[in-house]
Amino acid sequence: MSVLEAKEVSKIYCKGKENEVTALNQVSLAVESGEFISIMGPSGSGKSTLLHVLSGLDTISLGTVEINDTDISKMGEAEMSQFRRGHIGYVFQNFNLIDSLSVHDNIALPLALQKGDKQAIESKIQEYLTSLNIASVKDKLPNDCSGGQCQRTAIARALVHGPSILFADEPTGNLDSANAHDVLEILQKLNSEKNVTIMMVTHDSMVASYSQKVLFLRDGVIEHVIEKKDKPQTKYYEEIASFNLKDRIHMIK
Ligand SMILES: Nc1ncnc2c1ncn2[C@@H]1O[C@H](COP(=O)(O)OP(=O)(O)O)[C@@H](O)[C@H]1O
Ligand SMILES: [Mg+2]
Repeated sequence: MSVLEAKEVSKIYCKGKENEVTALNQVSLAVESGEFISIMGPSGSGKSTLLHVLSGLDTISLGTVEINDTDISKMGEAEMSQFRRGHIGYVFQNFNLIDSLSVHDNIALPLALQKGDKQAIESKIQEYLTSLNIASVKDKLPNDCSGGQCQRTAIARALVHGPSILFADEPTGNLDSANAHDVLEILQKLNSEKNVTIMMVTHDSMVASYSQKVLFLRDGVIEHVIEKKDKPQTKYYEEIASFNLKDRIHMIK
């Protein structure tokens, strides 16, 4: 079943002005339930724009975006934020945690608006504290945690309300390699064990090699797709890195 379907999506910034930019040019794609997809491409190729419009953070200029068979492209702002609260999880490069709240309370935040039974909410938070391996820092403030612990808290916060899809824009961009590996293993585990559908932007072939499929963007168009299938991760990484290198060399005039 498709969780997300984008049809001929275009995003044009500053339309009609002399600085008009076509950031996405008739992009069509489908994301099936349980997929883990990376989006790669050179700087300015439209990666962040794609994530923003697919997650309803920004509007599109042309086309349609459906999430769980609901067309989000024509929603107004209020309807969109309500839809996002129910269906979408989003993780940012810089974590975006609230510094004055503990790890536990940051995760509780999306549930604070829900009316559910207190005990059920608390057990949901505990479930994510455990599965993301941050139970030991639950009472700490983000500033007293490592970058990896902060990003795992942000992932827990993005998932605790049970969204249909998790979007992540360079989720390991601010982490050292050990913490990045940690976060990527957690994403992989959430995908394989809890069937969490993930769409992640990265410019790093190693990071992309943790996903199952890579979409390469260039000038707002998907120009190439590589799938992992049953390849070992090392082989898959080599394939991604080699395409990425050719793509970059091609750009040097
Ligand atoms: N808010 C904006 N206003 C005008 N142009 C933008 C805006 N955001 C992005 N762009 C332009 O759209 C293109 C794609 O940008 P972006 O999606 O940020 O690329 P990437 O994430 O791949 O680096 C670039 O040419 C960028 O300059
Ligand atoms: Mg970007």
